[in-house]
Amino acid sequence: MQNFGHKGQHYYADNVPVRRIAESCGTPFYCYSQLAIESAYDAYANAFAQHDTLICYSVKANSAQAVLRILAARGAGADVVSEGEIRRALLAGMPASKIVYSGVAKTASEIEFALSKDILQFNVESEPELHQISAIAARLGKTARIAFRINPDIDVGTHEKISTGKLENKFGIPWQFARQAYAEAAELPGLEVCGIDMHIGSQIMSLGPYSQAFERIAELVQQLRGDGHTITTIDLGGGLGINYDADNEVAPAATEYAELALKTFGEFGCRLILEPGRSIVGDAGILVSRVIYVKKGGISTFLIIDAAMNDFMRPSMYNARHRIVAERNNGSEQVHYDIVGPVCETADTFARKRQLAAQHADDLIFIEGAGAYGSVMASGYNTRPLVPEVLVEDNEFRIIRERPDYDSIIGLDIP
Ligand code: LLP
Repeated sequence: MQNFGHKGQHYYADNVPVRRIAESCGTPFYCYSQLAIESAYDAYANAFAQHDTLICYSVKANSAQAVLRILAARGAGADVVSEGEIRRALLAGMPASKIVYSGVAKTASEIEFALSKDILQFNVESEPELHQISAIAARLGKTARIAFRINPDIDVGTHEKISTGKLENKFGIPWQFARQAYAEAAELPGLEVCGIDMHIGSQIMSLGPYSQAFERIAELVQQLRGDGHTITTIDLGGGLGINYDADNEVAPAATEYAELALKTFGEFGCRLILEPGRSIVGDAGILVSRVIYVKKGGISTFLIIDAAMNDFMRPSMYNARHRIVAERNNGSEQVHYDIVGPVCETADTFARKRQLAAQHADDLIFIEGAGAYGSVMASGYNTRPLVPEVLVEDNEFRIIRERPDYDSIIGLDIP
């Protein structure tokens, strides 16, 4: 991660010492680099520059308005999964004509809202959903452009909780039923069948599963065209991984991914749609925390920091291993710490037996690779305020989401 790291004694986000931000807004907080977001987006845009491609950033990965605006300014569209995300994308300046609506089960009111905004495409995940979209569009006198999300039954070798392309997963239309689904759609009112869609999982670290899934989709497109359907968009989903643990992992580059996609689909005369999330924002963010206490346990030494599982769920939910860096990194004494938060659960553990220079209360700790699925998955468990977010642009920073005060949190309750 080039945008975050030590320069001398201090840890920087681009050209801002993170300590300066911590002094101004308190800890914990998420800190994002605008430059890192831009360069990750540009890597995709450049890799696909030769082909008609729409990059629909997957809003669920990080839905801060400021982040969406950076991407909107570069021409990105949005992949959304709820009315809330459609609203966020539109508000940030992403036009409806660049919004694709994914999601396992869109409700009637969400479908109506999306139709009223005339979004680019619905990625349909089931037969009942197809009928619902058709009925609502017909009633409103609108046309819904649709693609079916196909489940190609591919094992992507990622964590079981984020694998979506096997038949046992709830996602998409099983590939064996695809032709039947398209035939059914062709008979229904209010629909314009325009494409095909897939998304096989997240944090995918090799191109092999993509290659298999692309082949299956390519074959289907040919069959569907043979059946008389018009396929003009192919949505490849998201899923490319990032190097959380630089020593042991190497994610495929956007250029290699593009090469494979264009080799398979380059001659289909279709517009490609991509839905990357993590690979755009994951490496562009860190969670900044402070040591509260160093505690000697019976077996381990605990570094208890002021961020917790409610602020950043990935380690407790997926056993995710993130790089954790301490600002104080030059002491001669090295300690193996269990790095934990203050929440009352053993799951509130960020890492075990991590070697760091000896730490003291108030030292700053940085959890790297936290730009995706960090802030968006946070909760207020233990009545801890949602963590604020800060955006760094070269040598300046600004708060892009405030820490809520206790009155506004508790004030939502109706006694
Ligand atoms: N498109 C669809 C339909 C998706 O469901 C997802 C992610 C994406 C695109 C973006 O995938 P990405 O490029 O970010 O891998 N909370 C989990 C990840 C859940 C991913 C859900 N779907 C985590 O922290 O690992």
